[in-house]
Amino acid sequence: MGELLGTVISKDTNPNSSEFAFVITNNKARKGQFVMLDTAEGKMIARISDIIKTNRYFERAESVQEFERAGKSLTELFPADRWEYLVGEAVTLGVYSEEKLMRSSFPASPGTKVHMAENDILSNFFGLDGNKGLEIGKVEYHDLPVKINMTKLFQKHLAILAMSGAGKSYLTSVLMEELMERQAEHGQMAVIVIDTHGEYVGFAEDPKYRDNADIVLGKDFKIGVPHISANTIAQFIPSMSSVQKRELTRLLSSMYAEKKGQTFNLKDVLDYIDESDTKSTTKGILYTLLLSLHQTRLFGNYDNPPLDKIAKPGHMTIIDISDMVNLRNKQMVVTYLSTKLFEARRANKIPPYVLVIEEAHNFAPEGIRAEGAISKRIIEKIAREGRKFNSCLCLISQRPINLSTTALSQCNTHMILRVNNPYDLKHIGESSEGVTSDVLKTISSLRVGEALIVGEAVNYPLFLKVRKRKSKKNERGTALEEACLNFRKQEKLKDEDLQAFI
Ligand SMILES: Nc1ncnc2c1ncn2[C@@H]1O[C@H](COP(=O)(O)OP(=O)(O)OP(=O)(O)O)[C@@H](O)[C@H]1O
Ligand SMILES: [Mg+2]
Repeated sequence: MGELLGTVISKDTNPNSSEFAFVITNNKARKGQFVMLDTAEGKMIARISDIIKTNRYFERAESVQEFERAGKSLTELFPADRWEYLVGEAVTLGVYSEEKLMRSSFPASPGTKVHMAENDILSNFFGLDGNKGLEIGKVEYHDLPVKINMTKLFQKHLAILAMSGAGKSYLTSVLMEELMERQAEHGQMAVIVIDTHGEYVGFAEDPKYRDNADIVLGKDFKIGVPHISANTIAQFIPSMSSVQKRELTRLLSSMYAEKKGQTFNLKDVLDYIDESDTKSTTKGILYTLLLSLHQTRLFGNYDNPPLDKIAKPGHMTIIDISDMVNLRNKQMVVTYLSTKLFEARRANKIPPYVLVIEEAHNFAPEGIRAEGAISKRIIEKIAREGRKFNSCLCLISQRPINLSTTALSQCNTHMILRVNNPYDLKHIGESSEGVTSDVLKTISSLRVGEALIVGEAVNYPLFLKVRKRKSKKNERGTALEEACLNFRKQEKLKDEDLQAFI
């Protein structure tokens, strides 16, 4: 067993089968730590739920008051400070008997020594994978690396939730490092990131990762027209009627047959519609609808990035859409890419992958119909069906309350960092299994870089300190002062140019 922390004491209501208290003889004991002790059933494992200081000299309000009123301090008159004790309160989590973890059904005996839990027992208790797990941090107060089994984490979907600035993107970068560094013989996934703020571009500049990381800028993202169907176009225009869709299908198939082997873009489709024999009202509407798509500049002669470039094992593709302003255009990128990846995976054309979506509440918002958020339907579909094909989502959001509950409820593992908005906390409490009220309270007091994992990836809610990242941080973001100075320099140059011109 680990270091000795104290001894079980006898109180009115405990020790019982679910809790006990112990006097702390080693001031390394901390709230949240895991402890072990011998019981008649085997080795009991428990969590310190709180630490209380007691002193019997100060128990009775009237005697403290009387002494103080007489101008005498209790600590001067009596050896009161020697009677201050620390008492740990612990909740039992289970008992190891013959290597198996069982529910405890019998109390520990008063007088039993309480020890810090050993690392291998803890690792087993949480269901960590010390061998080939993804190492994302350390268990708080224990020197135990948190190595999460990749299958358990990505068999279904993952949600990373926290308020702004709590460390979601940092934790995601750490996860990506682990996925990219993973040995081929342990099984590698492809990683595709929808990078809304250009935060992950540092990977492509870092000598350690750049060979396995590619960036595609939003302005270069293209939907290859010769491959799209009327269905795909209808995904972007939810208001399209079935008559219009049928007509578009007819037109596209005859156009594709005519232009077989050639490349063409949406402008060519528009011309084709214009010259067709379609009834004038339908033609007019189809033309207007497709013209609005053409104006997004998202369509081209071929797909960029092509599928075989984005979905490679151990490789990451960063779709940096930070240069795109229009939310609908960003949603179109997400819609097209996630549909394409999902279908290719379903046909086993690409390896298992994880699609990381930053600001997921903008792509699958709760309470907004499909017309208002075109990417919502496909994200919910992958959330529901993706696990059958190892098509995994990692949804990141600072407003969990605005994120589709259908999608969130399919995320079987939640990584939660600091959240202090009461509505979001309530929502997390309702949507994350295993989050009890004392765990919820702790979430609002987490510091930057401290996280809680709940759900299928771990057997028990686990608080951890996220490890330091190894990859280069994005250099694109500049500090405020630097941005002000840059702006000033730029204005000065403009002035000089103007003077030179005059
Ligand atoms: N584990 C950590 N160790 C050290 N620094 C951290 C850690 N996590 C986050 N930080 C720092 O805290 C700041 C905010 O982190 P980050 O950008 O990851 O937050 P976020 O939750 O993604 O915020 P937003 O919602 O605005 O995107 C960054 O400067 C980051 O470097
Ligand atoms: Mg972020």
